[in-house]
Amino acid sequence: MRTRVLKINDVESDCSAILEAARLIQGGEVVAFPTETVYGLGANALDATAVQKIFEAKGRPGDNPLIVHISKRQDVDRLVRELPPAASTLMERFWPGPLTLILKKSHLIPDTVTAGLDTVAIRMPRHPVALRLIEYSGVPIAAPSANRSGHTSPTTAQHVLDDLDGRISLILDGGKCQVGLESTVLDMTAEVPTILRPGGITYEMLTEVLGQVRVDASALKPLKEGQPVRSPGMKYAHYAPHAQVVVVRGELDQMVERINALAEEYIKQGMKVGILATHETKDYYKEGKVLVLGSRTQPAVMASNLFSALRQFDDLGMDIVLAEWIETKDEGLAIMNRMLRAAAFRVIDA
Ligand code: TXA
Ligand code: MG
Repeated sequence: MRTRVLKINDVESDCSAILEAARLIQGGEVVAFPTETVYGLGANALDATAVQKIFEAKGRPGDNPLIVHISKRQDVDRLVRELPPAASTLMERFWPGPLTLILKKSHLIPDTVTAGLDTVAIRMPRHPVALRLIEYSGVPIAAPSANRSGHTSPTTAQHVLDDLDGRISLILDGGKCQVGLESTVLDMTAEVPTILRPGGITYEMLTEVLGQVRVDASALKPLKEGQPVRSPGMKYAHYAPHAQVVVVRGELDQMVERINALAEEYIKQGMKVGILATHETKDYYKEGKVLVLGSRTQPAVMASNLFSALRQFDDLGMDIVLAEWIETKDEGLAIMNRMLRAAAFRVIDA
């Protein structure tokens, strides 16, 4: 299969390309498209056969459910059995945007989408191309991130092509994703709304609106053997670059000192070493390939650069990446959730 990439500069002047993608969705095919978080690989969420093609293209395990994307607030009503008032409040406040709500599903949602669960994940993305594609398709679109299963999520059309060239027929190129990490997944069926995956809508923002919010224990810790899994996606070794990632935790100067020492050691062993740094520390590294996430005072910017930095280290053929710990407040929680998974939870205290 040949994979075509169509650049969308403007949803009005390039509407014919979006229309073409919508026809593919209506015909039961899959299409990659931009959202404000990461690129998605979409299919008609109400068509089990179409949804199955997403799993095949990604090589995704069938027990990992998908997010259903909608373009209008009222699209939710027929997809769920129950709508708690708090969920409506969150939709008003944060949609369109990087917040996915877990709700009790209606009979319209096929089991392939939810991996047999009784709940469904729903979000309204903010990207104009995504919204227009859903609107033109006339159906909700089920879409995971458009990467090969287990790999880092794509934040550019080129990343999608790197992973899925020849496996899908069309990619809509809407430029670089602004948020750069996947949406926050919030379970609204739990007694207290629970963050299953931290993202661009932060714990702090949700608490301000809801009062009480929980963060699932899996956010910063590996799941223990036999522990019940509330968000199936969190159990897989995710966001894994080819290089081995090691996170170094401690006070800034101690982190830098330890990373410099480790880098020297690994380079001596003949390894190619990458360092994932911040503006505040970048000038203190002596060896290794240094990439800068951004300033520690702007966690949203650091979040938006994380996945592309990990992919860049892969392109540069790094054997090991030494990453600085980031404070886990605001978007920092989502950054560390992804970084720890990329590192398979290898953490060294400085
Ligand atoms: O930002 C995003 O959310 C992107 C863009 C494309 O919208 N999508 C995305 O999808 O990240 P995916 O499939 O890579 O991640 C979906 C996450 C997984 O961790 C999955 O386990 C969880 O949402 N999930 C989906 N349905 C669920 C459900 N009913 N209950 C609990 N977790 C669910
Ligand atoms: Mg994913």
